[in-house]
Amino acid sequence: MIRVLFVCLGNVCRSPMAEMIFKDIVRSNAKEKDFYIDSAGTSDENVWNHSGIYPNTKAVLKKNNIAFTEHYARQMTREDYNNFDYIVYMEDYNRRGIIQIVGDDKDNKVQRLLDFTTSPQDIDDPWYHRDFDRTFREISYGCRSLFEKIVG
Ligand code: 4NP
Repeated sequence: MIRVLFVCLGNVCRSPMAEMIFKDIVRSNAKEKDFYIDSAGTSDENVWNHSGIYPNTKAVLKKNNIAFTEHYARQMTREDYNNFDYIVYMEDYNRRGIIQIVGDDKDNKVQRLLDFTTSPQDIDDPWYHRDFDRTFREISYGCRSLFEKIVG
C-alpha cells in the first residue's frame, strides 16, 4: 500500500483538489487497492477546521468530470508524517508549515508537487489569485507526473 498525503495551507482548495484528481488517476488505472490517499492543511485556524471543500474547487472538479466525495478540512499531524510515504505540498510556504508540525523531514518524504514535473515551481494559492482553472491544470500536471513516478 502506497500512502500519499497532499498538503496545502487551508485544506479547502488545493490539497483536496489534488486528492480528488490523484484518486481519479488511480481509479482510471485500476490501482485503488494499491493506494491510500488523503489531504490536510498546515493551518490551525479553527475557522477552516471541519469546513467542506471550497465551492470553486468543487465547481472546477465537476467541470472536468472528476468524481469527488466531501472532505472536511483538518490540520496535518506528526502521526501523518509517520503514516504516509509521500507528503506532497503545493508551495514552499507549506513546507515551512509542515516542518513546524513534524520537526524534521528525517525520512525525506516531504516533496513539492511540481517538483515531480519538468517545470518545478510553486502552485500559487487560488484563494488569492482566484483562477481555479489554472490551479486545476497545474495540479493535474503534477498528479500525473507523481503517479508515473510512483507506478513507473
Ligand atoms: P488552500 O487555500 O491552502 O489551497 O486550501 C486557502 C484557503 C483559505 C485560506 C488560505 C488558503 N485562508 O486564509 O482562509
